[in-house]
Formats: sequence, C-alpha cells, structure tokens
Amino acid sequence: MLLDIKQYGDPVLRVVCAPVEKVDDELKELAANMLETMYEANGIGLAAPQVGRNIRLVVIDIPEDEEEEGAESPMITVNGEQRPQKDVMPLVFINPSIEPYGKKSLFTEGCLSVQNIRSNVSRPDHVKATLPQLDGTVLEIDCGGLLARCLQHECDHLEGFLFTDRVSSAAKLTLAKKLKRLAQWR
Ligand code: NI
Repeated sequence: MLLDIKQYGDPVLRVVCAPVEKVDDELKELAANMLETMYEANGIGLAAPQVGRNIRLVVIDIPEDEEEEGAESPMITVNGEQRPQKDVMPLVFINPSIEPYGKKSLFTEGCLSVQNIRSNVSRPDHVKATLPQLDGTVLEIDCGGLLARCLQHECDHLEGFLFTDRVSSAAKLTLAKKLKRLAQWR
C-alpha cells in the first residue's frame, strides 16, 4: 500500500523519534509499505517520520546503477566480512546507531520530503553502523560511498533533522525562500 509522504513544514518531520519496542505484524507491514512507497517515488531511503510515524524505522535500497563509475556493487564490511553491497539490499532496520568517520566531503542531497530542492551537504565519507533487523538479528556495517551518505541522511530524520538544516549558511540563505514556499503549500 502506498503511503502519504509528509512534506517540509509538517511538524511530524521535526520530532525525535521513539525506539521501536516490539516487532509485530503491524510494524512489518509498515516497513513493506514504506519500501513500496519509496520505490514508487524513486527514492533510495525513507524514514518512518516521513510517512507520519515517529518511530526509529528506516528502509534503504541503493540500486547498483546509482553508484558512480561502473555498475559493480561496491564491497562493504558486513558483520566482519567483505560482501557486495547489493547482498544487504533492501536494508530495513530499527533503532540504528551510526558512527560517521573519515574526511568530510560535499555531496548533493535531496529528500522525498523536500520536493524540488537539492543542495550540497558536508558529511564524513564513512560510517560504522549497527542496524537491528526485524528478525532480531543485527547487521554491523562499515561502508563508504552512497550508502554511508544515505545512512547519515536517514538517521538524521529519526532525530527530526532534514538535510536542509545541514547546508552551509550561504546555501541556507539561498534556500530560505524556496523552503518557506514549500512549507506554505504543504
Ligand atoms: Ni530524506
């Protein structure tokens, strides 16, 4: 079932989300609906607050052709082993903890909740992440590239942050008018 994607200006996007306490059928169905909604919108990540639920649940799917240079799936560390990133896609997790590390880079981000706006955001290149799965297992991931970027962007949503909060102050000035308009049309 397709869900309504909440848009910039909606207070539901600005809440610190609560941990998921119990994985039941309702939660599994929500995760499946979030994936469907994300695919339909051509996104690569979606966090629960973006569909109006203030809980720590995220879905991510980075298609191979989204990665720069060649179509090969990049290798990432999964529970201590090197594996192609595509092996863990789609990623569905609750209550993540992430530790970004490495040098910071600029990358152009967008968001399904901030329509028609893309902007450069500076973030560390790599992430170590602990990602509890719906089946009770835990994925420990160490990665770079688009996945590292996406994990940071999605985990920001769980804290009530949007990528537009993280752009340079000059870019914030440029975006201010557009964002104000977005919030009015919501
Ligand atoms: Ni987003």
